[in-house]
Amino acid sequence: MQPRKIADDIYWVGVNDRESELFEGLWPIKEYGVSINSYVLLDEKNVIIDLSSELMSDRYIEMLKQIVDLKKVDYVVLNHMEPDHTGAVLDLLRIAPDVIFLGTAKARDIAANFYDIRENFQVVEDGEELKIGKRTLRFYSIPFVHWPETMATYVVEDQILMPCDAFGGFGALPGVNFDDQCEDLSFMENEAARYFINIVGTHSANAKKAIEKLTPVPLKIVAPSHGLVWRENPGRIVELYRKLSSYPDGKREKAVTLIYGSMYGNTRIFAESVMQAVADQGLPVEVFDVNNNHASYILTSLWHNEGVIICAPTYEGSLFPTVTHVLNLAKIKKIQSRTAAYFGSYAWGSVAKKQVETYAAEQKWNLLENYQFYGRPKAADLDLLPAFAKKFADAVRAAE
Ligand code: FEO
Repeated sequence: MQPRKIADDIYWVGVNDRESELFEGLWPIKEYGVSINSYVLLDEKNVIIDLSSELMSDRYIEMLKQIVDLKKVDYVVLNHMEPDHTGAVLDLLRIAPDVIFLGTAKARDIAANFYDIRENFQVVEDGEELKIGKRTLRFYSIPFVHWPETMATYVVEDQILMPCDAFGGFGALPGVNFDDQCEDLSFMENEAARYFINIVGTHSANAKKAIEKLTPVPLKIVAPSHGLVWRENPGRIVELYRKLSSYPDGKREKAVTLIYGSMYGNTRIFAESVMQAVADQGLPVEVFDVNNNHASYILTSLWHNEGVIICAPTYEGSLFPTVTHVLNLAKIKKIQSRTAAYFGSYAWGSVAKKQVETYAAEQKWNLLENYQFYGRPKAADLDLLPAFAKKFADAVRAAE
């Protein structure tokens, strides 16, 4: 890829990562990739805003050199210290050892501990401005979007916001950088939602605060460090983030996420019967076999939907392990206060039911049904479903 001009003397310089299987070692990106965006401002002082990962360092530095002589870079703004944006820093320092880093006090600590950067680090305060020539940079502290040190950089004269992870998304750039050039914005928005939930979700209350802080500022362009640069309609990505950050304590979709795991098909039979019964009540149901769907996508569904139905057997004195894995991640992501139900097969041990009850209490899930059946579901078990589905659908619709 080649650098792209964002505005006069402001350039996008970035890389698509299509090689990594997982982002953060957890979240699948092999299929759709992810972009890591960095920006260069040429002025009396030359500035780079955020870097790239160590894995992509060679190609990133080569691209940077097309825009700026690295020995003439004055400042490197480190909005966020996670290594997808800082991994290239040691390679950069080998070429440009005198650059001055700008970041929050917390970023300075992280820079020292991750990269042994102890010199030339200038701490900037929330709201502080830095004149770099004809342009002014203003820094906004936005902690926990998505680490505690995070800030956003605003180019005052051009009204361009560079907020790093905030307003970012998965999905490699499809040959174009801007929202108005992208043929499939809904795909990029879906990947932005998955990114938000997988990466920022735990800290969504902080994301909400960041949006409230940043959006009174005039925004002509939102240029995050993952995904598209939004110049035609920056409000579109802001609104998506606003909506996503409102799900934990606002109205969720009147729909159901049904997660099932099954060893020999007994629980699957029940799961499909539950699916039909709930659908008969007019509620959309998204169904995930945990063994064929990555947790990344299941969490994305859980985030949006009010209803959760877990179908999983007892396995070796525990709830089925792959379902437990998804529920543990949902706990980390603070997916709380849902309308829920559990069904599962058991043989000689029936521990899962108790574990689900404990989990639901911790997560403030309203567990409307907690039901186990011995072995294969019988007609008497399945006959319970229409009444359950009616009760469940009514509760999902009534939930605030
Ligand atoms: Fe894109 Fe939190 O790093």
